[in-house]
Amino acid sequence: MKVLIAGGAGYIGSTIASCCEDAGVTPVILDDYSTGLRVFASRYAHYEGDIADEALVDRIVSEHPDLDAVIHCAAKIVVPESVEQPLAYYDTNVGKAISLVDALSARGVTKVLFSSTAAMYEPDPDFMVSETSEINPGSPYAASKAMFERVLADAAATGRITATTLRYFNPIGADPQMRTGLQNPAPSHALGKMLTAHAAGEPFYVTGVDWPTRDGSGLRDYIHVWDLGRAHVAALQAQLGSYEVINLGTGTGTTVFELAEAVGEATGTPLKVEGAPRRDGDVVGSAARIDKAREVLGWVPALSIADGVRHSLEWSAKLPGVLREEESLRGA
Ligand SMILES: NC(=O)c1ccc[n+]([C@@H]2O[C@H](COP(=O)([O-])OP(=O)(O)OC[C@H]3O[C@@H](n4cnc5c(N)ncnc54)[C@H](O)[C@@H]3O)[C@@H](O)[C@H]2O)c1
Repeated sequence: MKVLIAGGAGYIGSTIASCCEDAGVTPVILDDYSTGLRVFASRYAHYEGDIADEALVDRIVSEHPDLDAVIHCAAKIVVPESVEQPLAYYDTNVGKAISLVDALSARGVTKVLFSSTAAMYEPDPDFMVSETSEINPGSPYAASKAMFERVLADAAATGRITATTLRYFNPIGADPQMRTGLQNPAPSHALGKMLTAHAAGEPFYVTGVDWPTRDGSGLRDYIHVWDLGRAHVAALQAQLGSYEVINLGTGTGTTVFELAEAVGEATGTPLKVEGAPRRDGDVVGSAARIDKAREVLGWVPALSIADGVRHSLEWSAKLPGVLREEESLRGA
């Protein structure tokens, strides 16, 4: 089996590529390297360019007539930037994505897996979300993902493509073999901040300890990026309906206190935590119901949150060397 991974030089796409490779699926990468790394793509057949470049798509399909599917991970993904530049976000995440699927399906690549996001959900009263929970995107980024889902559903209804939308929760960790991971040396998410506090021997302030959750702190659903990769391999191999939406999370979620505990477990020394008041704009959060992924993909997460923390740490130590290698590839 051979698969085109659009955005395969990014954090998630490159890890999906490693997972495919390990499962005997050959990846071909299409990426413009706007945020992705050449060093990730260079391990496979790779093409530099825009997903909306039809001539390039034509060349890829001519050189790989045996492509079975596309995994579409290429996107602009920064929520605050999407508020400032909505047109650029709709252009890349909707307009260019349509061009890609149109060009590929016209050339016989009709199976599409789409990287979508749980950021579009309105949680149920118990803070859990299933695939049928209300959609209420809070940013142009999330809205662009919801719009492209609709595009795929409508195209699938005509029989021109089959599509599977995978809604990710919060990916953490890296390839356990350390081939790929997050390109950003200073991630701003809670885990990044916890690891910074832990390294500095400073306390981590849990802002909001009076939410109606199991321990009062906010709820998120951190999912190991390798488990995301495994789900894509399962979706490639499964016989699915013409259009499916599937949540990828842990099924239980992780509270901020639980994440802090996982940092202690992974590092061997506890992270000091202190409670602090909620900040403006904080939300209680949500977690995924994953019964559908279990039923239709036979997938459940295999790695723990502590594994995710450990792999994130191991990858951070390796990243400066990877970025030096990237610099020399870019200069070459
Ligand atoms: N990281 C998350 O927290 C998260 C959560 C849910 C869903 N997702 C989705 O997963 C996908 C991958 O996200 P990521 O975290 O790996 O981001 P990333 O920025 O690391 O990867 C995106 C990749 O797409 C490439 N790209 C962007 N625009 C392109 C274009 N026009 N043509 C060709 N290549 C282009 C970038 O160079 C990069 O390699 C995205 O679709 C994102 O919406 C991410």
